[in-house]
Amino acid sequence: MIFTVAVDGPAAAGKGTISKALAARFGLAHLDTGLLYRAVGAKGGDAVAAARGLEPADLARGDLRSLEAGAAASRVAAIPEVRAALVAFQRDFARREGGAVLDGRDIGTVICPEAEVKLFVTASPEVRAHRRWLEVGGDAAQVLAEVKERDARDMNRADAPLKPAPDAVLLDTSDLSVEAAVAQAAALIESRLQGA
Ligand code: CDP
Ligand code: CDP
Repeated sequence: MIFTVAVDGPAAAGKGTISKALAARFGLAHLDTGLLYRAVGAKGGDAVAAARGLEPADLARGDLRSLEAGAAASRVAAIPEVRAALVAFQRDFARREGGAVLDGRDIGTVICPEAEVKLFVTASPEVRAHRRWLEVGGDAAQVLAEVKERDARDMNRADAPLKPAPDAVLLDTSDLSVEAAVAQAAALIESRLQGA
């Protein structure tokens, strides 16, 4: 079975949490595509060369979850050659036998426009910044400013900007628990699997 679930949306909307739960529930492979950009940003130096030479060990670094790594990721993610270098790996992953969930910014629009299920997971900037602050701590106002800055950079870049695919289902998690958000996403997948 080839079955792709594309999960896109802004920072700390809950994409990764929902994707992991869906992958476990439906027995699908999961790829957090943000990790690819975080790893390229963290390598420093020539970002295009880093993207072309990305290795599994680069994705295992422990420092990829920080706010700084997120900011560096979104800067290198605006470089078209960096994005191009990462496309084939993501497409192959998306169309692997057995099915896959990929979360990121451009999965439903660029990487896998033919995905059987497309979710656009969102929440207000304040809710998302609060979630991120619970994870990383520090100055809450600064976390909110960084979330907004990254959203703006991701939405306004020329290549693969963050936006819902025309056929994506919107899931606003501002007032939803993780369990409720996963249940809504799972119901959508069930219905598409039955129709497939
Ligand atoms: O992948 P993305 O940056 O979109 O978000 P995440 O890494 O899944 O993190 C979102 C954080 O918000 C996690 O700590 C979740 O426990 C929490 N959360 C959520 O994901 N979904 C909700 N409906 C409520 C809270
Ligand atoms: O977990 P969070 O949503 O905070 O960030 P992430 O998914 O790890 O993504 C980090 C950055 O990588 C984003 O702000 C985007 O600039 C970039 N990214 C992208 O351009 N395309 C993707 N498919 C995934 C991430």
